[in-house]
Amino acid sequence: DMAEKEGYDYFMLKEIHEQNIAIKNTLIEKDNIKEIISDLDNINRICFVACGTSYHASLTGKYLIESMAGIPTDVVLASEFRYSANALNENTLVIFITQSGETADTLKALKKANETSKTIAIVNVLGSSATREADYVIYTKAGPEKGVAATKTYISQLVCIYLFAAILAQNKELLDSLKKVPSFIEGVLENESKIIEIAKKYKDARDFFFIGRGLSYPTALEGALKLKEITYIHAEGYAAGELKHGPLALIDNEIPVVVIAPPGDSYDKTMSNLEEVKARGAEIIAIGPCNDEFIKYEVADSFCIDDEISEILAPIVYIIPLQLLSYYISIERGLDPDKPKNLAKCVTVE
Ligand code: G6P
Repeated sequence: DMAEKEGYDYFMLKEIHEQNIAIKNTLIEKDNIKEIISDLDNINRICFVACGTSYHASLTGKYLIESMAGIPTDVVLASEFRYSANALNENTLVIFITQSGETADTLKALKKANETSKTIAIVNVLGSSATREADYVIYTKAGPEKGVAATKTYISQLVCIYLFAAILAQNKELLDSLKKVPSFIEGVLENESKIIEIAKKYKDARDFFFIGRGLSYPTALEGALKLKEITYIHAEGYAAGELKHGPLALIDNEIPVVVIAPPGDSYDKTMSNLEEVKARGAEIIAIGPCNDEFIKYEVADSFCIDDEISEILAPIVYIIPLQLLSYYISIERGLDPDKPKNLAKCVTVE
């Protein structure tokens, strides 16, 4: 174990730090994805199926594919697949995202989808069951992940989805910009000490909210999931605009609110939501661009990310401070982030 951790205290921290390499390796899947796409025809609808963190990656896929390629896209939780009518047919492409390739609910849904539709599995583990069942396989190439909480495999799943959407939409600009992402991730990791400070301050919070809009909404969900998994603090991820329809009633000065605000179309509206919760006394942890516009919002804590990372690429970079926040809160609370209670790396029961 010690040797495998390569000097890191826990696998989770090692895996967070491997994310720039994971991306570089996953980008090599581009040619495979091109081939798969050229083989598909008459697809008029896409349906993603997944669980947990892989489900959050799928939600990002819906935004990207619908906005760039204009193909109607649904996202279904694997455990709910059997209860929804799904209306799959031979023109539907069903994409399964699963790190392990062994999650029982996902495999069950994959077998069902194979009866009607073309299927793709986006998988990290070579030779796993999902790779044998699906018509096509895309590998996330993140390398083995030991921490129960998914980190580098999430980033690699996102990269596969970005490649898929960009190739489908023939968006060369997005394809090129992906190559720049690893260096921005290195930039975030260099500022880890800032996150440690924030973790120390909020380690005893009872509840947390994470809010974002558009592509940052799945980031909010994933940030909240990470916190629940390894710190046992109650956390909710919410679409920022939906707060006023209920959760705003809960907000007070004991609830930190993490606001995910990358530069782009949703920025101004997200910042109005920030003001809304701030006015109710919440302590704000804002993650936004390193520029004057962002700094002028006076918040309790903030973490800034190079402003070249705009809304479209934000999901791949903005999740990293959130992973680190959960990790360091877990450490501050004296827990083992690699082995959260009641959870398993791979769930083989339905
Ligand atoms: C478990 C793991 C999660 C993972 C989920 C789906 O709950 O603890 O980290 O996101 O399963 O796993 P999969 O292997 O299908 O992506």
